[in-house]
Amino acid sequence: MGGFAIKGGKCLNGEIEVSGSKNSVLPILSATVLLKGINVIKNCPEISDVLETLEILKTLGCNVEFSNGIAIIDSTNISNNKIESEFSEKMRSSIMFMGALLGRLNEAITGYPGGCEIGERPIDFHLKAFTKMGVEFEEFGGYIKAVRNKSKFAEINLDFPSVGATENIMILASVSEFDTIIYNSAKEPEIIDLQNFLNKAGAKIKGAGSDIIYIKGVKKLNPIEYTVLSDRIEAGTFMCAVAATGGKVFVKNAIGDDMRQTILRLSEIGCLIKEYNSGIFIQRKDLIRPINIIRTEPYPGFPTDMQAQIMSVLTLAQGTSIIIETVFESRFKHILELCKMGADISYDGRTAVVKGVKNLKGTFVNCKELRGGAALIIAGLVAYGETFIDNSIYIKRGYSNIEDKIKGIGGDISYKE
Ligand code: EPZ
Repeated sequence: MGGFAIKGGKCLNGEIEVSGSKNSVLPILSATVLLKGINVIKNCPEISDVLETLEILKTLGCNVEFSNGIAIIDSTNISNNKIESEFSEKMRSSIMFMGALLGRLNEAITGYPGGCEIGERPIDFHLKAFTKMGVEFEEFGGYIKAVRNKSKFAEINLDFPSVGATENIMILASVSEFDTIIYNSAKEPEIIDLQNFLNKAGAKIKGAGSDIIYIKGVKKLNPIEYTVLSDRIEAGTFMCAVAATGGKVFVKNAIGDDMRQTILRLSEIGCLIKEYNSGIFIQRKDLIRPINIIRTEPYPGFPTDMQAQIMSVLTLAQGTSIIIETVFESRFKHILELCKMGADISYDGRTAVVKGVKNLKGTFVNCKELRGGAALIIAGLVAYGETFIDNSIYIKRGYSNIEDKIKGIGGDISYKE
């Protein structure tokens, strides 16, 4: 499979631009099914998960155009209520179409969602919430059929502040005869972006960003033009690359308020970080300091999507760091690969102990999932010699044009089919 070839050992310097947020645009694109007419989504990242989502929209009957970061989705005619499993199993976010199709057609059929190798990723929170909202389910031949004959007022108390479940409930509840309240809702910036998107289309939602979201159902939503939030995880990934290699870089479009924990931890490691309206400046010139303990947690805690990337940085710290992954049950698949490069990491269950080493050495490594792959890019950029990251197709799911962006700040990286 195709992979990134990296010659490491150079500091990164210059300016790098962050694209629109993968985890914001995916639920927004699904929700265009509710907005009957021509929708224009700007700052849409050119990543494979977006391309897959646009393909799904076409199978549902939408006309779709996508170029220069602008997706135009005409959802006037939705002629199909089924998400084929060949599509649903490719990515986790396909489950978002269940809420959107139920809202538009009161019926949805979908294969089970797929996703990365970071955990089982069940959808019980989604199904339990939709059942409270009046949806009935039946399963057949690997598909789930959902029907909403009669919507209901629902107070939903999430067992865990699930990002996807919060978003799916918001999408379905936005078009209903009744109100819906979500307790223990996820508080990520992407939830606020979805609320802003739906409210611009005529929804009546408030509370996103807090742990209680109130949705007053409306009859219909209208097509709109919307610009997606910038990607805080892409920004954090680039900042970790600078923290690892040294150098000074301006990360354009990064939003400091959305990345507080990442900024605090990189400052603790020894980076100088300055925030501006147009982005974030980061410099690392001193030695990398270890961090006693980092626990990944739902927002506003340290993001699970940044765990692998900061681990790559800490492999070169002047001491030992401990990383505890509390959100997903198997999100350490990058550890074996980092150890092939000379890192000294041991782990048991959800706790990893990272002992700093003097340097990493380039070698052949395997990408197993999106953020672990990004961690290998960071390690390759700082390692001595050449690194080849096989199966880098996973990385292209969430990072648009990453090789050109990193070349632009002095990294020696290319993609080889
Ligand atoms: C979203 O996934 C993101 N994906 C993930 O980003 C991110 O890691 C995750 O939120 C947490 O922030 C998108 O937005 C497309 P969850 P999601 O529901 O919605 C369990 C990346 O790298 N759970 O908050 O699937 C689940 O197994 C990706 O960009 C249930 O048990 O995450 C996990 O342990 C990876 N039952 C925990 O909750 C459910 O019904 C958090 O999952 C749903 C989730």
